Amino acid sequence: MKLNVLLGLQWGDEGKGKIVDVLAPKYDVIARFQGGPNAGHTLEFNKIKHVLHTIPSGVFRHETINIIGNGVVIDPVIFMKEIEELQELNVDLTKNLFISKRAHLILPSHRILDAASEAAKGKTKIGSTLKGIGPTYMDKTGRNGLRIGDIINPGFKEKYVSLTNKHKGLLKQYDFEYDLKEYEENWFKGIELIKSFRIIESEHEINNYIEEGKLILAEGAQGTLLDIDFGSYPFVTSSNTICAGACTGLGVAPNKIGSVIGIFKAYCTRVGSGPFPTELENEEGEILRKQGHEFGATTGRPRRCGWLDLPALKYAVMLNGVTELIITKADVLTGFDTIKVCTHYMLNGKKINYLPYEINELLEPVFKEFKGWKEDISKIDVYDQLPAEFKDYLNYVENEVKVPIKIISVGPDRKQTIFK
Ligand code: GDP
Ligand code: IMO
Ligand code: MG
Repeated sequence: MKLNVLLGLQWGDEGKGKIVDVLAPKYDVIARFQGGPNAGHTLEFNKIKHVLHTIPSGVFRHETINIIGNGVVIDPVIFMKEIEELQELNVDLTKNLFISKRAHLILPSHRILDAASEAAKGKTKIGSTLKGIGPTYMDKTGRNGLRIGDIINPGFKEKYVSLTNKHKGLLKQYDFEYDLKEYEENWFKGIELIKSFRIIESEHEINNYIEEGKLILAEGAQGTLLDIDFGSYPFVTSSNTICAGACTGLGVAPNKIGSVIGIFKAYCTRVGSGPFPTELENEEGEILRKQGHEFGATTGRPRRCGWLDLPALKYAVMLNGVTELIITKADVLTGFDTIKVCTHYMLNGKKINYLPYEINELLEPVFKEFKGWKEDISKIDVYDQLPAEFKDYLNYVENEVKVPIKIISVGPDRKQTIFK
């Protein structure tokens, strides 16, 4: 059996959490492979709305095993809060949530370094979620990091103190006030809690599952345009969010990857700084934000909104080898007289049809217009009943991207999902 990968094709928040929860009953295992609590994955069912940050979105399906893979970075304080919130909903994860020994720890001082670095950048800040993601991955690649496997070893506290002291030295270069004490106390409580879960060598476990014929879905965080290599650098996150990240973030060989399920919104959003060619800084953007409730699930920040960007979507499909598409938030487009899709860009007076290296320079979008629809589509559950105008839009995107759209999401709830 192969491992399927589900990931975001834009700047994150495409609705990965909702869709993983919808698909989870088909799978034995759901595994996160990169990112950390910068992610906010929202699930809704039975009028419950829940946001997950570190924990895979399979947790509300009791039969499913959930794995936090080696590519993930974990903040014990946020992890503990997530576990407590799930306990309040009577979700006990001690039996079906496993954590990789190789996953790296976000230290309290990583969070401070993130905040200090962003403050020092002023106007050029990345717009980080301030969860310590960048500094933690820096320590991982710099070979200084602390891993989950370390917490059960006797020298852990000393390692913690030594890395924290190193960070204190780095912080001297910033004019930044901080207090580690309170967070540190909770952090060590979180470490104790992590010890009550099964800490595993996830690469062995996952490959054994594949051998046994179990079905595994790898759940991406962030989105392709935030990838450290291929995103709009430096306005990116610090991990590989593309499909290849599932190989390194879980220890799964490329020939074990099956379907690559790419999720995109019917329009685009971005939270944080950086280029966004189709951004609408006008009333239409406001309408998208309002109708789509476009406020960050992790930080609450308003998300920037714009029309669908086809060259960027094609770029994401190429990098990930997407085999099937899922479109979300189509209901948000209801009511617009005209819907636009960016088909090309103008760069220095030249028309181009691909996302170039120069994304940080002024790319002027060229739009194609589509007739909108007025019918409420949020209660439709069969494809045939969708308005003709919306089907035209879907057919156009499918033909352009050359990958079939298999699922259409028309609302935040589990049930608001159309299988084509
Ligand atoms: P993720 O990070 O990719 O999991 O996405 P987020 O949870 O950060 O953001 C997606 C938001 O849109 C959440 O509030 C979801 O509840 C909501 N959502 C997901 N799918 C749909 C949809 O099809 N229609 C609408 N209106 N909302 C949706
Ligand atoms: P999910 O998984 C949207 C953005 C931040 C910032 C940049 C770097 O919910 O889709 P970081 O904290 O990683 O150093 O921030 O990346 N960002 C996200 N935007 N959704 C996310 O995750 C994001 N995770 C990080 O806003 O611009
Ligand atoms: Mg999100």
